[in-house]
Amino acid sequence: MDGNGRWAASRDLPRTSGHRAAEATVIDVIEAARSAGVRWLSLYAFSTENWRRPDDEVDYLLRLVRRVVRKHAPLLHARGIRCRFLGGADARIPAALARDFADLTTLTSRNRGMTLTVAFDHGGRRDIVEAARSLIRSGAAPEAVDEESFAAHLPFPDTPDVDLVIRTSGEQRISNFMLWQVAYAEWVFPSVLWPDFRATHFLECLTTYQRRQRRFGGVAADTKGEPGS
Ligand code: IPE
Ligand code: MG
Repeated sequence: MDGNGRWAASRDLPRTSGHRAAEATVIDVIEAARSAGVRWLSLYAFSTENWRRPDDEVDYLLRLVRRVVRKHAPLLHARGIRCRFLGGADARIPAALARDFADLTTLTSRNRGMTLTVAFDHGGRRDIVEAARSLIRSGAAPEAVDEESFAAHLPFPDTPDVDLVIRTSGEQRISNFMLWQVAYAEWVFPSVLWPDFRATHFLECLTTYQRRQRRFGGVAADTKGEPGS
């Protein structure tokens, strides 16, 4: 979810106004994904690197996400969405916010409509390092470790590989997002800033994705012999 700061700057508003405006997009995209039949939606809200931002912006984001989680919990539950939070190991996460994350996770844990993963204080590298630690602690023999057994030590190992990553605002970077899971993801980079992104934009991204030919390093069935990647 990128472009909140630029959205605000283009209106001569403080960056925090861009974050506030992001809330409407979040709800719109969740509803659009659910209606379109998406089973797994992940939103990258705050990275392990975002702590480098000025204290007042970080404080604003911590308060905003808490307010959004509390306000929309009944709606998310009513829609049958299973919510969970990826990340959150940092001691700077306020206890009250951690409680609200845990409460929403518990409230919606039996829902089966769509799984919404909110990546907050998330870092793909951190998750891989933690998985390595967990694997070593488990006493696994080195020769017994393969991709599948390694991935079982990542947080939320039931999460399927990511099919599509949408990064708004035109930036074309991974920024440490679910590094293991995006290995064969398709990427789209709409130029729209996150606060202006709406259900229609989301559906356009899904259409773009559907037109992509995914080969996973192989060759397409009807183009055998053509150069492939
Ligand atoms: C995304 O918008 C929100 C967060 C990372 C929390 P930005 O704050 O990155 O907006 P830009 O990139 O400065 O426009
Ligand atoms: Mg940004």
